[in-house]
Amino acid sequence: MGGGISPHGSIKWDSLLDRVMVAELSNNDKAMLKAMLTDCDRDWTVQELLDLTGWNDQVHVAGSGKSLNELGLVKITENQVKLISLDSEGKRALEFGLLENRIWDWFLESEIEGRTMNNLFKAGFQRNEAGPGIGLLKSIGVNLESGRLVAADEEKISSIISKRAEFISSISTESTDSSDLDQQLIQHFSGRKGLISIEERVSRTWALTEKGATVDVSELSHVEMIGELTPELLKGDSWKGIKFKPFDINAPAITPTGGRPHPMQALIERIRKVFLEMGFSEIEGNFVQSAGWNMDALYIPQSHPARTMQDTFYLSNPERIDVDERYLNLWSKVHEHGHDTGSRGWGGVFDKDEAQKGLLRTHTTVNTVKHIAENPDVPSRVFGIGRVFRQETIDRTHLPEFHQIEGIIHEENANLPMLITTLKTFYSKMGYDDVRVRPAYFPYTEPSVEVDILWRGEWLELGGAGIFRPEVTEPLGTEWPVCAWGMGLERLAMLVLGLTDIRQLYQPDLEKLGQMPIL
Ligand code: PHE
Repeated sequence: MGGGISPHGSIKWDSLLDRVMVAELSNNDKAMLKAMLTDCDRDWTVQELLDLTGWNDQVHVAGSGKSLNELGLVKITENQVKLISLDSEGKRALEFGLLENRIWDWFLESEIEGRTMNNLFKAGFQRNEAGPGIGLLKSIGVNLESGRLVAADEEKISSIISKRAEFISSISTESTDSSDLDQQLIQHFSGRKGLISIEERVSRTWALTEKGATVDVSELSHVEMIGELTPELLKGDSWKGIKFKPFDINAPAITPTGGRPHPMQALIERIRKVFLEMGFSEIEGNFVQSAGWNMDALYIPQSHPARTMQDTFYLSNPERIDVDERYLNLWSKVHEHGHDTGSRGWGGVFDKDEAQKGLLRTHTTVNTVKHIAENPDVPSRVFGIGRVFRQETIDRTHLPEFHQIEGIIHEENANLPMLITTLKTFYSKMGYDDVRVRPAYFPYTEPSVEVDILWRGEWLELGGAGIFRPEVTEPLGTEWPVCAWGMGLERLAMLVLGLTDIRQLYQPDLEKLGQMPIL
C-alpha cells in the first residue's frame, strides 16, 4: 500500500480506495481500461475498442464501459444520429422515377399545345397520380392555364427535379447519416407520404476521465478467476488461492432470439381460443365473393357509396359470379319494396347483374350471412376470422387488406342484451374489462351499436354490432333473430402491441417484430 501513504505520513484515502477499486475490476473492465490507456486523450468508438481488445461482441464494450463509468474512470458521450432511408414510395421512385419527374419528362416531350390533362391521362398517368403530381409541379413553377400546363422557367424546374432525384438515388441502398445530406431536401421529402423514413439512433464514444488516466497499467493484469465451481475443483485445495468471479446480474446480455409466431397470428390464435372457450364454432369463407352475398344480402342499397370502385375491389376474373336465382328474386323484392318484411325497401329497380359482380369481400359478414342461408333452421353460434379488402390509401391507420373477426348468435330468443353480454365477456377474457356500447348505424342491423373499450383512459372504437334487420334475415329463410358483430383486428393488435402505425404490423423487420411483446 506504499502508494497510499502521502509524503506527510497520513493516508490518502482516495488513492487507497481507488487502488482497491482497480484491483476489484473484472478482467473485461481491466482489458478495456488498458486499451484506453494507450491514448489517454481520445474518444474511442465501439469499433476501435473491439479492435484493441480483440473482443467480438459490442456487449462487452457497453458493459465494461458502463461499470468503468460508474466508478468515475470513463466518461460516455452519446451522439444522436439521424439515419435516412427510402420508404416504400421512395423505393418506387428509385425504380421508376419521382412522380413529378415522370410528369415533367412527359411535359418536355410533349408539344406545347399537347400539354393537357387529357393527354396526361392518355400517356398512362392515373387520376390518383396526376392530381398530386400536378400539385407538386405547381409548387415549383408549373401553371395550369386554360387547360394547358405551362412553365415559365423550364431550366429552374428541371434543376429542382434533378436535385430531388439525385437525393433519392444518394440514399438508394443503405441508411445514410442525415448530416451528410441536404437538410432542405430532407425537410421536403419528410413532408411527402412514404418517400423517406428517418430513424434516430444514438452512437456512443468512451474516453478516460482524469482519474481514469492516472490508473497504473501494471495493476491491470489479468487475474485468473473461477466462474464455475465443479466437483473436481472442490476435491482438491487448488480453489483456495483463486479468486471467484462475481456474478453480475446487471451485465448486459443478448436477448435470445428464437422462432415465434407473428404477433398478428398470435393475436388471432388468442381470439380463436376465447371464442371456442365461449362455445362458438369457427366458420370460413372465400376471399372472392359476389356483390350479392357481400352486399345485397345485407340490404346494402345498390347505390351505396361503399359499393363504388373507389371503395371496393371488383374483379375482372371472375367478373361475374352466378348467384342462385331464388336469392336474386328475394333480394330484388326486398330492395325494391320490402317484400313481406314490413319494410318499404329502398325503391328503384334492383339490378341482378350488379349483384353477380365478382369482388374481394369487404367484410367477413358475408361468411355469417351465408352460414345462415345454408343452415336456416339450425340454431348456431359461430365466428370467423379472416382477411378483408377495401380500396384504402395506405397510411398510419389504413391498409387495403386487413383482418376482421365476425360472429353471430342465431337462435330463437337471441336479443340485444345477449349480444352485449357476449361481447363484454369476449373483451374481458381478452383482458379488457371496461366496455361500452353506443348507438350506431349499419344498413343491415337494427338496433345497431358501436363497441368501445377503455384503454389507458381513452375510449377506443373497435367494432360494430347489432341485430340483423328482417330485410336481411327473411330472404335467408330464418325466423329467428340474429345477433351479429364484426370488428377490425389490426386496431386491437395496435392497442395490445402499443403501435401508432398500422404498417408496423406488416413490415418484415425481424428485429422489430422480435421486440414486440408476446401476446
Ligand atoms: N361489417 C361491419 C364492418 O365491416 C361490422 C358489423 C358486423 C356491424 C355485423 C354490425 C354487424 O365494420
